[in-house]
Amino acid sequence: MFVKPGAAKVEKIASETHFLTSVVMSRLALHGQIVQFKLSDIGEGIREVTVKEWYVKEGDTVSQFDSICEVQSDKASVTITSRYDGVIKKLYYNLDEIAYVGKPLVDIETEALKDSEEDVVETPAVSHDEHTHQEIKGQKTLATPAVRRLAMENNIKLSEVVGSGKDGRILKEDILNYLAKQTGAILPPSPKAEIVLPPPKPKDRTIPIPISKPPVLTGKDRTEPLKGFHKAMVKTMTAALKIPHFGYCDEVDLTELVKLREELKPIAFARGIKLSFMPFFLKAASLGLLQFPILNASVDEDCQNITYKASHNIGIAMDTEQGLIVPNVKNVQICSIFEIATELNRLQELGSAGQLGTAELTGGTFTLSNIGSIGGTYAKPVILPPEVAIGALGSIKSLPRFNQKGEVYKAQIMNVSWSADHRVIDGATVSRFSNLWKSYLENPAFMLLDLK
Ligand code: COA
Repeated sequence: MFVKPGAAKVEKIASETHFLTSVVMSRLALHGQIVQFKLSDIGEGIREVTVKEWYVKEGDTVSQFDSICEVQSDKASVTITSRYDGVIKKLYYNLDEIAYVGKPLVDIETEALKDSEEDVVETPAVSHDEHTHQEIKGQKTLATPAVRRLAMENNIKLSEVVGSGKDGRILKEDILNYLAKQTGAILPPSPKAEIVLPPPKPKDRTIPIPISKPPVLTGKDRTEPLKGFHKAMVKTMTAALKIPHFGYCDEVDLTELVKLREELKPIAFARGIKLSFMPFFLKAASLGLLQFPILNASVDEDCQNITYKASHNIGIAMDTEQGLIVPNVKNVQICSIFEIATELNRLQELGSAGQLGTAELTGGTFTLSNIGSIGGTYAKPVILPPEVAIGALGSIKSLPRFNQKGEVYKAQIMNVSWSADHRVIDGATVSRFSNLWKSYLENPAFMLLDLK
């Protein structure tokens, strides 16, 4: 398949941000001419994206694998990289415009190759093989570019992996599980070790400033299309409306946990990780889900079947500049609190950079929304279908409470509000789950007994 050695520069395996297409073949046919670089299929059924940032302008020279632009679908942000060496002749979209899969994104005047390079024919090794295989047999392997890359990096053939996602889609955890089986190792749920990030900068929480920018009063109404993550919110929340929600609230005394976190925070910080309360909330939820697996389940659209999920992929509602997104920490059931914190730091960094990908944003099985990190005491969280339960956490406040001797003490109180799909979960189950979750948080030492 690779005719000439020495032409390695185009053999570079497609990265997560490269769309796996056959453009390399057409590139060779078109060098020295103006090529329309089209937005190729990203997978996940995505047909349109919003152009969030251009990294090039007309007249810029680009090389293969240079970043061209950042686009955002309703599921993830993706950096589009060039498949050509050449000069950008035309950008087809302004910022915030919708770009469509299969339509031109930019025109690139490709560099003419020397005569000696004319007959070189090559395609990215693994992706080409995969595609040919798929097209000939007519069997499409469903997997995101990130999952394909993970498989490539570990020399795993996608055809040998059983996908646990919708329609047999291969998920990142399927690759990790496959690897774990091969090596006999228990792998962490995500590539935490690959990326060492500094801890996120602490937020300034001293005085909430109600208005940070002077309002611009135009006196005119403004209508604009809903895009990106907002569009996704329309879809999921409309689907969520069909679910009869059961609501349940309680208060949790976090006095002991607040002390414990103060002790552990500097130790985590010394290891480069910011330790907030969320990792404890997630771990306690996972320990609770082991006892009440129906809260970590999904139901099909007609509500005929229920699937109990093996993994606790706990979603975290995240407030970002692009809007509300819900990345999830994979396999919380096999993670330590420190590992959860590490992954949460990574997700927050990616979230604030607008770089969360499909791998992080799909596959959630249960959700926690810490709205209390912004403010508020109670909430009425809305289930994220096909999940069946969600919890919202209020702000932790110093309040007077009585101890067992009837004495008043200064307690750290947080309210939790659960919503559960009342078609499949009854109130007593939610209450029992909540009691267990609460007991782990009120007596954090209990968690030690049950940690794996
Ligand atoms: N009450 C009081 N303080 C809280 C708190 C709460 N419920 N939750 C977090 N904090 C504290 C943290 O401990 C941290 O304090 P520190 O600096 O002393 O360590 C500080 O607030 C900042 O925490 P944050 O960076 O927000 O981390 P986190 O792990 O607690 O939360 C997110 C991470 C992603 C959940 C949070 O940043 C976020 O986006 N929350 C909003 C969620 C939302 O919009 N929900 C509504 C969905 S409709």
